[in-house]
Amino acid sequence: MNLKELDSAFVAHTYSRFPLEIVSGEGAVAYDASGKRYIDLGSGIAVNTFGYADKVWIEAVTRQLHTLQHTSNLYFTSPCVKLAQMLCERTGMSKVFFCNSGAEANEGAIKAARRCAFLKYGDESHSTIVTLKNSFHGRTITTLAATGQDNFHTDFGPFTPGFVYCEPDNIDELRRLTDENACCGIMIETVQGEGGIHVLSDEFVKACEAICREQDMCLIVDEVQTGNGRTGELYSYMHYGVKPDIVSTAKGIGGGLPLGAVMLSAKAEAAYTPGTHGSTFGGNPVCCAGAVSILERIDDKLLADVKKKADFIVSELSGAKGVKSVSGRGLMIGIETDMPAKDVIAQCMENGVLVLSAKTKVRLLPPLNIGFDELRQAIQILKEVLAK
Ligand SMILES: Cc1ncc(COP(=O)(O)O)c(C=O)c1O
Repeated sequence: MNLKELDSAFVAHTYSRFPLEIVSGEGAVAYDASGKRYIDLGSGIAVNTFGYADKVWIEAVTRQLHTLQHTSNLYFTSPCVKLAQMLCERTGMSKVFFCNSGAEANEGAIKAARRCAFLKYGDESHSTIVTLKNSFHGRTITTLAATGQDNFHTDFGPFTPGFVYCEPDNIDELRRLTDENACCGIMIETVQGEGGIHVLSDEFVKACEAICREQDMCLIVDEVQTGNGRTGELYSYMHYGVKPDIVSTAKGIGGGLPLGAVMLSAKAEAAYTPGTHGSTFGGNPVCCAGAVSILERIDDKLLADVKKKADFIVSELSGAKGVKSVSGRGLMIGIETDMPAKDVIAQCMENGVLVLSAKTKVRLLPPLNIGFDELRQAIQILKEVLAK
């Protein structure tokens, strides 16, 4: 049997894969089994922050791998503490809980918001969280419930109760929902990723913060896809000048190894006390050592470069033949195209460029350090495909 047949025989059928086996890569370039070269504008869905085989990250990870690969959270380890300190210093948050994925980080964020309300009211009366329609927060039973899309709320019920859904950017609806329900938080992605690259308005995000302050509940920002430099700020909430109580992140912070984090403000940190939450692999030293090497390089220069590259992509694609609209922030870009997104993906792949989709849009999430030459080359190919 070939690889495709073996995959079909032995791997659970949760993904419909493209007909492509990626065997290696370097920077923004991936290679298939025949040696064909692809410029990858997807970064493993916003995971490979510095592309494939990033030397600095490999060095940090392998050094740690040769030192200590794992111990339990019953003991102190230095990479985990160092990463938590860096995250707190760069965000102004007070504490970090580490886990392994975006869904797990969101589970932790939801638990923290509910426990803050529990500590305030002494009971579970204020357990509802307002999330947004069209959002995506993960695949566990609770994060599916948090996800504001009806098609994710079938087949696996009963789902975790306690979520109500607000139209993005509708402040009146947000006020109504938070008045009608006994809430402990509002949870948002500032750029809805899986939902089709919709950027929340300034007014709406500020209203989320204001309502959380008025009603003493937690503003939770899901930075799983938007975080770690992707949008041109370290975390996307920083574009809005708001201060969340809880931030979840994953994907790009690990640079290719599984790592998630829940950051808690001074107000929210009380939610977690010994025994209230945990994760065997959370804060794994190898993942954290790699993440330190990633975070160290997400500096002002890199963030300015992200914005420059984003401006280049947007100016190349806006008004280009076959393009209806371009949305997004930083290197998280959605393109509404004349051609169905799946055809764009297939034709780009044939021509050596990997792109993604988000709902009906074509989605670009290139590595943050992609070189201008490769970016120019890939966008030229994408434009030629879109113009057909
Ligand atoms: C905004 C957001 N939250 C949560 C998740 C779930 O992350 P994971 O697949 O690591 O569990 C994703 C994944 O795409 C995401 O984009």
